[in-house]
Amino acid sequence: MRRRDFINNAVAGSLLLLTGGRSTVTQSRLAEARIEVLPDEPIGRIAPEIYGHFAEHLGGVIYDGIWVGEASKIPHVGGVRRALVEAMKRIKPSVVRWPGGCFADSYNWRDGVGARAQRPRRPNFWVDAPEWPKGAPDGPWKYDTNHFGTDEFLRFCQLTGAQPYLAANLRSLTAKDFYEWVDYCNSPAGSTTLSEMRGAAGQREPWKVRYWGVGNESWGCGGNFTPEEYAAEYRRFSEWVPRYGLDLAFIGSGPNGGDLGWSRRFFGRLAERGGFGRMWGWALHHYSWNVSGGRTSDWFQGKGEAVKYPDDEWYELLSEADRMESLITDHWAVMGEFDRQHRVKLVVDEWGAWYKPGSEAHPSHLLGQQATIRDAVLAGLTLDTFHRHADKVAMANVAQLINCLQALFLAHEDKFILTPTYHVFEMYAAHQGGQSVRTNVSAPRLSYTRQGKPASMRGLSASASLHDRRLILTVTNADPGAAKETEIGVRGTAVKEVSVLTLTAGDIRAHNSFDHPRVIEPRPAQAAARGGGPLTYTFAPASVTRLQITLA
Ligand code: AHR
Repeated sequence: MRRRDFINNAVAGSLLLLTGGRSTVTQSRLAEARIEVLPDEPIGRIAPEIYGHFAEHLGGVIYDGIWVGEASKIPHVGGVRRALVEAMKRIKPSVVRWPGGCFADSYNWRDGVGARAQRPRRPNFWVDAPEWPKGAPDGPWKYDTNHFGTDEFLRFCQLTGAQPYLAANLRSLTAKDFYEWVDYCNSPAGSTTLSEMRGAAGQREPWKVRYWGVGNESWGCGGNFTPEEYAAEYRRFSEWVPRYGLDLAFIGSGPNGGDLGWSRRFFGRLAERGGFGRMWGWALHHYSWNVSGGRTSDWFQGKGEAVKYPDDEWYELLSEADRMESLITDHWAVMGEFDRQHRVKLVVDEWGAWYKPGSEAHPSHLLGQQATIRDAVLAGLTLDTFHRHADKVAMANVAQLINCLQALFLAHEDKFILTPTYHVFEMYAAHQGGQSVRTNVSAPRLSYTRQGKPASMRGLSASASLHDRRLILTVTNADPGAAKETEIGVRGTAVKEVSVLTLTAGDIRAHNSFDHPRVIEPRPAQAAARGGGPLTYTFAPASVTRLQITLA
């Protein structure tokens, strides 16, 4: 098998459709990789909720990011940044999780309702975080004005077409406060005192919030509970919450990465007490942060730079991201020991890359970071993994929407740009609601050196979904230095038409910035169709590609 030369070209892809089986053998010998899509092997429907987001009161996410205020000169819709609303609509944002994160377990929803001028100012959960960039000024990100509260968030969801997912405070409020938040959001117009309070704030009809998180990271910032303690709290919070005619979906605070013990002990305890009640989802969090190559597991020491990273950190970060597959299958197996019908699904409600401070757009953006083509490849890898497990993953929320970790947008005052991660979400939106089908990838593993020793990782990664006669195939090439010529076959059917969109960059540190906002964006690749049959496509190095295939 021979390696292709590095193609230092933003659009390195080329596609050749061959007639019948005549030329296939020749092409098979040339291609170094093969992808076979099996439309007759369905996995499950790709829940649109896999394309979910997360917005926490943290650094520049809410204030400066989403909320600019009604008096702002920045174009807005009722105080929400207009450019953000418009860009979000294009990617079909299925769901947004709010208000945290760790912040959720410090938040009193009552602080954020009623007349804005009268709302209390409170210290933000993150006020003392060691990661604050030097020179971070005081502002609502440190002393929250509560100008963005429940109704502002729910209106934001309405504007963008997303469903809300509210995360309740289990550490520092009571179950009664939780019931009352549900009452405020969902009780019929004029039925309760809280529904009248909602009406006075301009929303007479119920918001009909279906998704409710019962705490966040209850093993850590959400209370430092044992799984058994959390199971008792979970029951106290979730039993007998009034439904107001809705099919409420509760999401339990699941494990930190690979902590199978948290899942096993929690599920075990719930099973002992008769079952899972209205639990709909089990939240899994996984960040890709340790690029030390195994030298340390220290949370601060293990992180790397967002942009000026050494070459080996490309592989380390993407290998971390690729752990998502085993995290899903391992936790799923544990859940199945107790929930044999798999009534409860996985909700990966925090995922993404987490770098050292230093590349944020403004010092007030705690945990803000730049995003390169590496982040796009990470996003492609992760979303493809979710599709391959569409039977298990019911929702996922990239962390976080704007000005934070694996953001889709960077904004400061009137400046606003799309990151490479945004473009992956835009390209991949076509998968939403499709039937995920088995996709076999046969490609050489990607070799690199880890602390002087040979190591390897997955080179090509893919997933496919069927939408009647339209097939969406997405592929990431994690090889930063070599294009991959690949033969693509769809079992049992011929290909009628193909269109290709590719996101790549000649430089693995390339990124969009306020001064150069369009360095990385998807470009159509040439597709020359010559009748039905197998096809060959060359995936550019460090790329994310979407093929839209019309089946004959
Ligand atoms: O996304 C940032 C933080 O990461 C969240 O607040 C917390 O849930 C997680 O540890």
